[in-house]
Amino acid sequence: MSENLDNKYSFKRYDLADDKTLKAWSAADEYILETFDGLESKPDHLAIYNDRFGFLACYLHSVIPTMIITNKSQEKTIDRNLKANDLPMPHFANPLSVLDNKIDIAFVKIPKSLGLFQLFLEHITQNSTDDITVFCGFMTRYFTPNLLQIAQEYFEVVEQSRAQKKARLLILKKKKETVKKDMITSLTYKEQEYRQYQGVFSAEHIDYATQFFLDHLEVKETDQCILDLASGNGVIGNEIFKKFPEAEIHLMDDSFLAVSSAELNIQGEHIHHHFNNDLSIFEDDTFDLIVTNPPFHFEYEINIQITLGLFRGCYKCLKVGGSLQVVANKHLYYKVHLERLFTTVQVLAVAKKFVVYKCAK
Ligand SMILES: C[S@@+](CC[C@H](N)C(=O)[O-])C[C@H]1O[C@@H](n2cnc3c(N)ncnc32)[C@H](O)[C@@H]1O
Repeated sequence: MSENLDNKYSFKRYDLADDKTLKAWSAADEYILETFDGLESKPDHLAIYNDRFGFLACYLHSVIPTMIITNKSQEKTIDRNLKANDLPMPHFANPLSVLDNKIDIAFVKIPKSLGLFQLFLEHITQNSTDDITVFCGFMTRYFTPNLLQIAQEYFEVVEQSRAQKKARLLILKKKKETVKKDMITSLTYKEQEYRQYQGVFSAEHIDYATQFFLDHLEVKETDQCILDLASGNGVIGNEIFKKFPEAEIHLMDDSFLAVSSAELNIQGEHIHHHFNNDLSIFEDDTFDLIVTNPPFHFEYEINIQITLGLFRGCYKCLKVGGSLQVVANKHLYYKVHLERLFTTVQVLAVAKKFVVYKCAK
């Protein structure tokens, strides 16, 4: 079957990466599909976790699975790939929601974040029948014994399949009786507590690049309308809010759990949270200031194409005279790209690993 996978449906990655070797699925997805084909009886309610580009959603459309969506980009890509192949829509749900129907089979593409893996298993145990079986696909090079440890918290039986094309499955059966957890962890930054759902960026401490940024970014009283782009748990927006409580502050992130975390940390009459992956939701010439510690890791891949797309969006949404301020790892050399877009690009601060740019429109 896997030989013909390329031909049956066509897929596009949402990021349209320059690197054409990056695929929209892996051998772990193929292994999951084969497992589905071999099931003795088809599930009444199948849930699929972490299907980044809709590969499983397309091949398993006939059972109308519930797709557990963690990212807006993922939701848009699944929608686009299903429509491109004339396939019916699945159900969409988020990993904090209570599902209408208890699931009896779950497929999980194991994410890089162990915290997110645990959050998925928590969601599965809270929303499944007693005889649920969970198949978790992963590439063997990413295996860590912690996966087994987490799985054993939730299931009596944790088996590993044989390897196939360098992929394996963890097969989980006999769910344990567990007490529902809220899956929120807590970090402190300058005596301020920040809470975030497991799986959100920088779980142990506020990111060091972000801390460096907070020490150097320039916010003026006249910056009335501000965007914290790729806001994670909302720490940058909130630190600005504490100093400028009258400003209108928008926070946007591609991750549902990040937006839900930011909602725990920053609330107010002039605060707006957005679950989205591009700036098309904002009018041109809206912001006086955009601040960001932008993403460049996507699971196991490094990809700056998405960030460059966000920078282009920033240029459109900034007012003339406004600024984009960015913290980044020095080795990414964003300056070259920023100089192509902005009138001036100034280095506000530099440290061993990080640099802060201020770009004027
Ligand atoms: C480096 S983290 C920064 C998080 C937070 N601002 C901080 O400093 O702790 C980057 C964030 O970008 C988000 N992200 C990834 N792609 C995105 C996109 N296309 N649009 C908006 N946010 C995105 C990730 O979910 C992650 O929360």
